[in-house]
Amino acid sequence: MPDERPAPLLDVTGLTKRFGGVVALDGVDLAVRPGEVHALVGENGAGKSTLIKCLSGVHQPDGGRIVWAGASRRIAGPREAEALGISFIHQELNVVPTFTAAEMLTLGRRYPKRFGLVDRGAMLRRARAVAADLAPDLPLTTPTFALTAGQRQMVEILRAISVEARLIVMDEPTASLSRGEAERLHRTVRQLSAQGTAVVYVSHRLDEVFALCRQVTVLRNGKSVASAPLSSMDRVTLVRHMSGDVAEGEGGIGRDRPSAAEPVLAVKDLPFGRARAPLSLTIAPGEIVGLYGLVGAGRSRLLRTIWGAEPAADGTAIRFQGRPLGRGVATRVRAGIAYVPEDRRTQGLVLRHSVLANATLPHLRRFRAMAALPVPARRRMTDFLQSLGQALNLRFAGPDAAVATLSGGNQQKVLVGRWMAGQIPLMLLDEPTRGVDVGAKRQLHDALRTQAGRGTGILMVSSDLEEVLGIADRVLVMAEGRLVGTFDPATSGAGAILDAAFAGQGAEAAA
Ligand SMILES: Nc1ncnc2c1ncn2[C@@H]1O[C@H](COP(=O)(O)OP(=O)(O)OP(=O)(O)O)[C@@H](O)[C@H]1O
Ligand SMILES: [Mg+2]
Repeated sequence: MPDERPAPLLDVTGLTKRFGGVVALDGVDLAVRPGEVHALVGENGAGKSTLIKCLSGVHQPDGGRIVWAGASRRIAGPREAEALGISFIHQELNVVPTFTAAEMLTLGRRYPKRFGLVDRGAMLRRARAVAADLAPDLPLTTPTFALTAGQRQMVEILRAISVEARLIVMDEPTASLSRGEAERLHRTVRQLSAQGTAVVYVSHRLDEVFALCRQVTVLRNGKSVASAPLSSMDRVTLVRHMSGDVAEGEGGIGRDRPSAAEPVLAVKDLPFGRARAPLSLTIAPGEIVGLYGLVGAGRSRLLRTIWGAEPAADGTAIRFQGRPLGRGVATRVRAGIAYVPEDRRTQGLVLRHSVLANATLPHLRRFRAMAALPVPARRRMTDFLQSLGQALNLRFAGPDAAVATLSGGNQQKVLVGRWMAGQIPLMLLDEPTRGVDVGAKRQLHDALRTQAGRGTGILMVSSDLEEVLGIADRVLVMAEGRLVGTFDPATSGAGAILDAAFAGQGAEAAA
């Protein structure tokens, strides 16, 4: 059958890239046509971001060809890619912390000038126009370090679509977005596509892949193993291509529901949110409590307050195993409480340090105490890393590789997985499976259930409703800084929970 589709705008063939001994790309083909929304999928570490960095000139490929608009190209750097008409939303965001959103949207472009000086008014007006459709509420004059992960991601998205590109490459653009924000982005992607702009879309959320994309290319271990219209593929086949053989199943470990023991965490009448309304919640040992809500509902802030990183309005309102936790993070650390922050790169991992150092960081005291024992501490640490690696299918070159060289999803696995050891009484998790592929997500969920089975109480913020329903024993819904509902996932559906999240938001706005 003759191929009646237009000629590819981008035609990558046989691309290879290695980092030392790691083969990241091993002969990748990718053909993207004008106006096409093309999904690029694969497990964590499959090579998606590396391929994208070869297109943006961040990395130079070792072999293969990049043909752009009919001509073979060597893309020397990001500026050259932009000049060709390719723009990027990278997975790991590149905002300058002290710059405001408005400044970020102008960065690297021509600044509006007046009397030889930067015309701030004009800059802000321009930024406002760019943000109008997609993120009308984005605070444009706040330094980006003070923005939420979702807002920072929005800045990056706006930057990429504010230039007239012929191809926009989006590496997990919705990883930190709420459902509403993600839907707005989807609308924008459809508009761009209708105008003839091509989009390469990387996502681990297969629902959105099917809803949004026409064509898919699957990477596995640095090779492109399938490329087809999505209409010809179902979810199971797609996952099978990604993983090689294992089909997606329900999986999971059965577990008894936790008993009504004394709560490990009890928050009672904590003045919280703008309204300082009293907030109460409890978590039993072995219980997994999901904290769901729309972005801006205050979930991360509540977690940080419980963790002691933000001052609690009442220091006695937060009790751990029956005793007030007082102020500051140090008491939590001593109590053995685990906290996984929302943003792994700025709050969670020490990027320059090795995988080994990052993975064992929470346990250093234990390993040091062991140093007196016959087996050297390093051996114990590498053993720990190895078991973690096996449990979560971690891909890394070796224990001494810098954690920054791991793929995004694998960094996330280190961040969460390092806590999965021994007696952790309480875990506070903020979006723990962000950017983690389908298989690894299941492994992480299994690990969390195992951990809960050992008696750990878990409070987990997630914007992924399916995940919350799948793993939590109880779901709390938060809106505008208040808890507005409690649900039993065994009897409540997604609809009821979403309704509560939206209604709670409306109620406050009306009040
Ligand atoms: N700068 C680097 N130095 C060494 N190894 C690297 C570097 N960048 C990537 N790698 C390795 O290349 C492989 C592919 O990583 P890549 O980031 O492309 O995966 P990915 O498909 O984007 O995964 P994810 O879904 O987790 O984001 C991984 O094994 C990773 O550790
Ligand atoms: Mg990646």
